[in-house]
Amino acid sequence: MNPGAEGSMDIAAYLRECSQEVDRYLDRLLPPETQHPATIHRAMRYSVFAGGKRLRPALVLAAGTSLGGNRDTLMHLGSAIEMIHTYSLIHDDLPALDNDDLRRGVPTSHKVFGEAIAILAGDSLMTRCYQLLTDLPHLGDSVRLVIIREIARATGTIDGMIGGQVVDIESEGQTIGPDVLDYIHRSKTGALLTVCARCGGIAAGAGPAQLAALTQYGSKVGLAFQIMDDILDRTGSSQSLGKTAGKDLQVKKATYPALHGLEASRRRARELVAQAIEDTRSLGEPAEPLRALARLVVDRSK
Ligand code: IPE
Ligand code: IPE
Ligand code: MG
Ligand code: MG
Ligand code: MG
Repeated sequence: MNPGAEGSMDIAAYLRECSQEVDRYLDRLLPPETQHPATIHRAMRYSVFAGGKRLRPALVLAAGTSLGGNRDTLMHLGSAIEMIHTYSLIHDDLPALDNDDLRRGVPTSHKVFGEAIAILAGDSLMTRCYQLLTDLPHLGDSVRLVIIREIARATGTIDGMIGGQVVDIESEGQTIGPDVLDYIHRSKTGALLTVCARCGGIAAGAGPAQLAALTQYGSKVGLAFQIMDDILDRTGSSQSLGKTAGKDLQVKKATYPALHGLEASRRRARELVAQAIEDTRSLGEPAEPLRALARLVVDRSK
């Protein structure tokens, strides 16, 4: 590594360029609004293009390019995962779950399209993701299959996104311990972020040691990300977050600040990120974007 290169990369520019490229892929990979039946295609596009940091595609790209992966493959993969992520947001906001009116700075899907179409928009972003994964460019079917299995598992019920969402909902208003809270956070949010790092690596032909490093990195960044999400819900504004601030306290969600306090939560998130950065050392200089993304997770204000 060049002396002084550590921490010197312009991660905001990296993320901006990645977002612009991902948006071009998403536009190409989603059905046009005019496609019959138009309502569902409008709803899918409404939530996908409302904004969003595009952190998951950036993680896929950073992990994959650290191992020399093909950019077209990684962009296609990251965009498919962004569809799954957007589905999870639409469903998370539904009246039956978190009942939120604001997402990515605009009214939630169910506020605009009604609950039936919002549910179906979430469903259709998930199925679209898997359809696109079967077509991942420049990869053989066996690698595609591994990636599909990884994503299905990470978003599923056993230690995956849906499992975490179930325990999150069931824990509202309950007294839970730190282990249950870590289960919620690692599952509902950490699992998808981890699989971004892993699948970026798998698409780039990662060996076992590289994949282990990416997994360690992803699971720590993933937990830190949800801790920061909890902190920002307390300390941020609806305006800057693009979603209703202060919501977690209102509905007695199981959060890091509620259980551990704000200061200890901040400390834990910073520790996790410092460890995640150490986990990438074996990947050398090409993994600098991964390290910069990890720092961003705790430095962000939205
Ligand atoms: C919000 O994710 C949902 C969580 C997993 C905490 P993001 O904060 O990445 O949301 P967008 O994609 O930027 O809108
Ligand atoms: C959402 O967690 C996790 C998923 C969408 C799977 P939150 O409920 O904390 O996310 P926000 O705060 O609404 O974005
Ligand atoms: Mg939620
Ligand atoms: Mg929510
Ligand atoms: Mg939250």
